[in-house]
Amino acid sequence: MAGVKITDTTFRDSHQSLLATRMRMRDMVPIIEQMDDAGFFSLEVWGGATFDSCIRYLNEDPWERIRIFKKHMKKTPTQMLLRGQNLVGYKHYSDDIVEKFVEKSVKNGVDIFRIFDALNDIRNMEVSINVAKREGAHVQGTVCYTISPVHTIESFVDMAKKLEEMECDSFCIKDMAGLISPKNAYDLVKALKEEISIPINMHSHCTSGMAPIAYYAACQAGVDIIDTAMSPFSWGTSQPPTETMVEALRGTPYDTGINLESLKESTAFFKDVKKKYAGIIDPISEGIDTGVLLYQIPGGMLSNLVSQLKEQNALDRFDEVLKEMPLVKEDLGHPPLVTPSSQIVGIQAVMNVLLGERYKNVSKEVKDYVKGLYGKPPGPIKKEIIAKIIGSDEPITVRPADLIEPQYELMKEEAKKLGIVKEEDVLTYALFPAIAPKFLKGELKEEKLAPPAGDVKTAPDSGIPTEFQVEVDGEEFQVKVKPTGGFVEIGEAGAAKEAAPKNVEGGVPAPMQGMVLKIKVKVDQAVKKGDVIAVLEAMKMQNDIHAKSDGVVKEIFTAEGATVNKGAVLMVIK
Ligand code: CO
Repeated sequence: MAGVKITDTTFRDSHQSLLATRMRMRDMVPIIEQMDDAGFFSLEVWGGATFDSCIRYLNEDPWERIRIFKKHMKKTPTQMLLRGQNLVGYKHYSDDIVEKFVEKSVKNGVDIFRIFDALNDIRNMEVSINVAKREGAHVQGTVCYTISPVHTIESFVDMAKKLEEMECDSFCIKDMAGLISPKNAYDLVKALKEEISIPINMHSHCTSGMAPIAYYAACQAGVDIIDTAMSPFSWGTSQPPTETMVEALRGTPYDTGINLESLKESTAFFKDVKKKYAGIIDPISEGIDTGVLLYQIPGGMLSNLVSQLKEQNALDRFDEVLKEMPLVKEDLGHPPLVTPSSQIVGIQAVMNVLLGERYKNVSKEVKDYVKGLYGKPPGPIKKEIIAKIIGSDEPITVRPADLIEPQYELMKEEAKKLGIVKEEDVLTYALFPAIAPKFLKGELKEEKLAPPAGDVKTAPDSGIPTEFQVEVDGEEFQVKVKPTGGFVEIGEAGAAKEAAPKNVEGGVPAPMQGMVLKIKVKVDQAVKKGDVIAVLEAMKMQNDIHAKSDGVVKEIFTAEGATVNKGAVLMVIK
């Protein structure tokens, strides 16, 4: 009996799920070799949201990250999560960019590609699968698991058979929301075992608490690989604990062959690392939430949702958003909730709740989704929802990337003008053109870690912090604040970030907190009602801001790249 193999996700999914993908490379490097020695099937170390997080928050070169992992991993394959045609971003890229990215990923050290599409549309996985195979990598074809009237065992098995025909080396059931029950896990793996001969991997999250039992049931049905995370970064919205699963399976036909002794140092190491990040672990992500069985929100999405609601100063509306989520999911044809569909559905649910009217504001991403630009929705979308979101436009029927012109050479030219020439950097730019230049020019600063809750000194009984770290021109000062009586009213979303007025006649307010991505008008320009006058990036979605009436732009109070609070006047149109 070969036993069951383990993919450890501590370096990628665990901190994406629990820490909003903020684990620094310096907190991983010292333990890579120990983890490499343990005898895992693979270590998931790259892809997913790590690429974005590296350049957006951590001031780390993602390419350097994979090279360092590869350098320290002499025995265990490195694994990445690739979102098919979306690569490590949130939209479809052109085929030539997909090809270049996969080639470079192999060259920089990725051994195993776990490739999925949020909608389980294989057309969106074709190019990346073919290129990764051509480059000699192991390809794990993946199906996103969810529960809906259109997601049956037959539909999953059917997809697995197609992926095997495409020469995938293994198959993964990606249960990103931790929804799979032991019975469903058993039935699905059993059905797959009868139809495909490549190894089967089960990936789940503990969100609902069922994952370890579901894993055991999957073992009984013949699963080959399970995904776990080192105990300090397990449970909650993360994977089941590695050490626990290793011991639970010992002496059974599914024995992993891993020696617990060999994990001891890693366990202690990650326990220490966790202390550093205690200030950013949300208790909601860390606990077991049986509500997920109703709301079906994946691990990463749950912690992102919490931080996005915090950003919008609306954490108190969390429950309402959770209730809205399945309704939006149904409206949109039951997409499995995984990046980017999780963001698309999640943020639409947030907007439906915050703006008090369903589909009052629809992001560009939701419009594109309904047009079919992300792929074929798993189930049909009601006519009235289509009409509400894209009006009289017709959804497309071809492979979405067929409509995208080659982009790489264009991006390369654009990047060159900014002084970006290395191929990896050009790819970073091509994937994230809005934030990459700042990072690549070395102008980005690493985000500061919030101190653990207990470390913040607050005035007695008030909960108001009295000690602050203040930065002036790059120099840090520790400042103490002494209350002198009276109340300080802290306004909406704290201090104003922009010196823009709030209530002006003809003022166009920001519907939510976000970053001004584009200003599409100039002062003195005439606009018509409904014209797009600006684009606001909020919660990673692009939202068109429309003119509410005909008029002339009198004044603009903001600039591209500026962060604005909800209600801040962007411009005046009279
Ligand atoms: Co996951």
